[in-house]
Amino acid sequence: MSQSCEDRKYAPVGVFDSGVGGLTVAREIMRQLPMERMVYFGDTARVPYGSKSRETIIRYSRQIIHFLQGKGVKAIVVACNTASAFALEELRPELDIPIIGVVKPGAKVAAETTKNGRIGVIGTEGTVGSQIYTKTIREHKPDAEVIGKACPLFVPLVEEGWLKDPITVEVAQRYLASFQASGIDTLIMGCTHYPLLRSTLRGILGEDVNLVNPAYETAQGLKALLSEYCLENDGGKRELSQYQFYVSDAAEKFKNFANSILPCEIEEAQLIHIEE
Ligand code: DGL
Repeated sequence: MSQSCEDRKYAPVGVFDSGVGGLTVAREIMRQLPMERMVYFGDTARVPYGSKSRETIIRYSRQIIHFLQGKGVKAIVVACNTASAFALEELRPELDIPIIGVVKPGAKVAAETTKNGRIGVIGTEGTVGSQIYTKTIREHKPDAEVIGKACPLFVPLVEEGWLKDPITVEVAQRYLASFQASGIDTLIMGCTHYPLLRSTLRGILGEDVNLVNPAYETAQGLKALLSEYCLENDGGKRELSQYQFYVSDAAEKFKNFANSILPCEIEEAQLIHIEE
């Protein structure tokens, strides 16, 4: 049975990531758009995406988007920076619902707020190598100097829960050393996990560097997108479940991580076979 336009606004938003990292985006959506329902998929069986090829990321993202569409979502948020870099523009023409990634919102605010035009970007090898942040920042600020640095060790350190551990501080100091000499005034935390390292990064870079969290900006962008398409949930149909979580592996571990960072308790993450 097809949904009426009026009912469409009560449909959930689909959010996906390579695993737990996208929960930083889910968290911002919960905080900033508390009326919205959400179906989250974390590809915990195939994480990390950051070291995989563009073709593989497109294939994975296509499968996940089909899964989310099967759940009747009204819009899709690509919460993963690597998938936003490689798959978003490729898959957009295949969709009849709005889709938003994390790169554009983060790049735009960095370009608009930098004072000296020197912007650092940290992310996975895939995201930094794609140069997507550089290209997108320059659409807003053509003379910006953008310095990228892949920080692959941050993801396992965050997943281990070592957010402020001396080892993490040491690793961060090494990664960030080049930025300290280059005089950036803005740093984009261009990977889902990095906002969880904010205070460690702040401790190394000091108060003068503005840390941009694309998760925060993406939630703002989603709000604007839903409003543009008249899809904002007005809080009706409260009987429908608000949040559903699906993963491709290690559901219990995912649930525990989710409950350590989300503003609400999740009861379960359901395991699904995304390849089927
Ligand atoms: N979610 C990924 C990203 O934001 C980080 C983890 C991974 O490499 O899959 O790019």
